[in-house]
Amino acid sequence: MSGSTSRRVSRLPVVVLLSGRGSNFKAILDAIERDGLPVEVRAVFSNKADARGLAYARNAGIDTIVLNPGDYPDRYSFDRAMQARIDAYQPALVLLAGYMRILSGDFVRHYAGRLLNIHPSLLPAFRGLDTHQRALDAGVSEHGASVHFVTEELDSGPVVLQAVVPVKAGDTAETLARRVLEQEHRIYPLALRWFAEGRLDWNRGQVLFDGQALHSPQRLAGC
Ligand code: GRF
Repeated sequence: MSGSTSRRVSRLPVVVLLSGRGSNFKAILDAIERDGLPVEVRAVFSNKADARGLAYARNAGIDTIVLNPGDYPDRYSFDRAMQARIDAYQPALVLLAGYMRILSGDFVRHYAGRLLNIHPSLLPAFRGLDTHQRALDAGVSEHGASVHFVTEELDSGPVVLQAVVPVKAGDTAETLARRVLEQEHRIYPLALRWFAEGRLDWNRGQVLFDGQALHSPQRLAGC
């Protein structure tokens, strides 16, 4: 065997957290399968037994973990149980992919620099929910999606990568959401690739890209 074919690329171990559809998780699986994304999804966690995204994990033979928040007295004990289950898989990164539960400060601090999220807006614009309608109501000409590190304040951690989606005349929240989601499926795997290849890193609250402090996110143009 020669050169590139014999070189073993080590795969970044991750655990994915989701609560619903799971299309971002599916995009990551597709990128692993199709584009050789050097990532190994060791487990998928959900707070909802009926989350549709769990089926992608089962079909791919990936472990699934479901815990019901109703079985725990408070957020802290739920998050502690979740953390123990996640840590058993020793992930280098934990990926929020449509995980629709507020995380406790202890949980977020435990994974500082190892917790990523995808959010459907050009952060810091439109934190929280219902981003597409709010973007239309605000009359912005550009909307999009962001991959960011998670810190304790909701949707406020350092942004790594964004895809910009122009708002078109006649757009509805649905048409805009569709185009933004296409870009989410592009940028989450790309940010993971950068992490896996060592281009993206975190050092005490500072994001590094190719060894340099990243002061503003990388941006890609969508359509
Ligand atoms: C995506 O829009 C993501 O940005 C947001 O939640 C949605 C999850 O969609 N955080 P899916 O479950 O990945 O299809």
